[in-house]
Amino acid sequence: MKMKTNWLCIHIVLMLFASVYAVGFYGLHFKGLEEPAWIGTRILDQKWMQQPIDHFNHRDNRTWLMRYYEEDKYFNGSGPIFIMLGGEWTINPGFLQSGLMHSLAKQHGALMFYTEHRYYGNSKPTQDISSDNMQYLNVDQALADVAYFIDNRKIQMNISNSKVIVFGGSYAGNMAAWIRTKYPHLIQGAVASSAPVYAKADFYAYYEVVTASLKRHDAQCATDVQTAFDQTEKLLASKGGPKKIRELFNLCENPNVKSTNDISYLMNFLSEIFASNVQYNKIVNGKSKISILCDTMTNASIGKPIERLAHLVNKEGDCIDVSYLEFVKKMRNDSWSSNPMKQWYFQTCHEFGYYQTSNSNQSVFGTLFHLDFFVNICTDVYGDYYENHLLENGIRRTNIMYGGIIPDVRNIIFVNGDVDPWHALSILHDINEFSPAILIHGSSHCQDLQSDDNEDVPELRAARERIKNIVSIWLQ
Ligand SMILES: *[C@@H]1O[C@H](CO)[C@@H](O)[C@H](O)[C@H]1NC(C)=O
Ligand SMILES: *[C@@H]1O[C@H](CO)[C@@H](O)[C@H](O)[C@H]1NC(C)=O
Ligand SMILES: *[C@@H]1O[C@H](CO)[C@@H](O)[C@H](O)[C@H]1NC(C)=O
Ligand SMILES: *[C@@H]1O[C@H](CO)[C@@H](O)[C@H](O)[C@H]1NC(C)=O
Ligand SMILES: *[C@@H]1O[C@H](CO)[C@@H](O)[C@H](O)[C@H]1NC(C)=O
Ligand SMILES: *[C@@H]1O[C@H](CO)[C@@H](O)[C@H](O)[C@H]1NC(C)=O
Repeated sequence: MKMKTNWLCIHIVLMLFASVYAVGFYGLHFKGLEEPAWIGTRILDQKWMQQPIDHFNHRDNRTWLMRYYEEDKYFNGSGPIFIMLGGEWTINPGFLQSGLMHSLAKQHGALMFYTEHRYYGNSKPTQDISSDNMQYLNVDQALADVAYFIDNRKIQMNISNSKVIVFGGSYAGNMAAWIRTKYPHLIQGAVASSAPVYAKADFYAYYEVVTASLKRHDAQCATDVQTAFDQTEKLLASKGGPKKIRELFNLCENPNVKSTNDISYLMNFLSEIFASNVQYNKIVNGKSKISILCDTMTNASIGKPIERLAHLVNKEGDCIDVSYLEFVKKMRNDSWSSNPMKQWYFQTCHEFGYYQTSNSNQSVFGTLFHLDFFVNICTDVYGDYYENHLLENGIRRTNIMYGGIIPDVRNIIFVNGDVDPWHALSILHDINEFSPAILIHGSSHCQDLQSDDNEDVPELRAARERIKNIVSIWLQ
């Protein structure tokens, strides 16, 4: 009986955690755009649609089932179609019940869909995720899936005259912009939120923005972070230092200073504490995550800056494994897993780069994680084929295929928050009168896709209003 009660409690706790779904990436870790939870008793069934494994090879007729959600409660048979595009995560129908797209759907009587990206969540085209089987994982295939999806739904539901508007955040924001660019006859408009449309290998600007966002909150905070990272680097180079580092940061082993990959892994791990808080700088009870972080980093009574940094590392769980080889070993596992890291990192190795290096003197996170480290992961996890030239060619290809920072497009809204490090690879100036850029001061990653909230900065609410007005014009 006691056992049963405990399980019930655990279950409730798990449900509370699960109520905010996180999607998106920073560095080597998975977190992200926070999806609203599905609340209430209405049940929305998952649905499936057959798709070709390879849209670009008529000699390959294999198929798989793509998952999606559909919500028609506002639709009377002749309104528009709104599609939330899934990116590198498992879809959850929360965006069909609240958020920006939902409120527009209510206003316009739209039919809503949420499509899952191939190779993520339960949309599994292949037996496993070996490098060979992941050759069908790329944005070209994923956009073709959505194009087929639209054609199929329109025929099956006899709604061929309905206009289609797509919404996406982060990588799926790229997808929204690019699918409108590529298939304008199928999609009449796109909202691309926090979309890093410019592919780039060495994305050192990421930590420049993290630094600037900390500085803007409190210049002393950025200075103390810099001192903490300097102290950590000095300690790594000193006799007996690695042992002290292990103790300070709750590591499982002394960091292996002979391995540059291990050191990069460690310093990247410490930097990601800041990345995750700045990228999703949510305000809870009037306090932003940045201010909570900086309160610790500037609190001299905790000790030296390096000790304040150590204070931010979670010490409650198991020790932290920062062995590069262990990480690679885990990543080489070809089984499907609930962590989408293997699939997403694969995409970065041959399509996007986006590697958040320490290669800038405008950032305060030390000097020890360079582009080599991130490309080593590509080679060590996916095979020798995935080396630097493949990355450079793949990035060039992505920018050629989709227009990079200078796309020639109409009816795409590019929305960014200037606190969000990803805005550095997005479009911040109007492309033309039909494709405006909205840069929201004081806002972070994909916040515009959510519903209005009391803690929102006024500019964020105004941005949502503007998006709604523009989409309404598209639908006239
Ligand atoms: C797929 O192609 C193979 C030949 O490559 C053929 O034998 C098979 O019938 C095809 N299947 C379908 C469903 O068209
Ligand atoms: C259905 O909704 C659309 C959009 O709100 C509206 O223009 C149309 O008149 C409605 N049609 C019917 C049959 O109610
Ligand atoms: C499809 O919709 C059109 C109006 O949009 C209607 O005239 C036609 O009867 C419908 N066809 C079927 C099979 O429902
Ligand atoms: C600084 O840290 C000390 C020790 O952890 C704590 O008691 C104090 O409340 C902190 N001060 C601030 C302003 O957060
Ligand atoms: C690979 O991952 C699967 C699923 O997470 C797990 O069950 C399996 O034990 C792993 N294999 C190895 C060799 O670690
Ligand atoms: C920072 O980097 C820029 C560009 O690489 C360089 O011109 C400048 O001298 C550097 N500043 C310092 C303080 O190192």
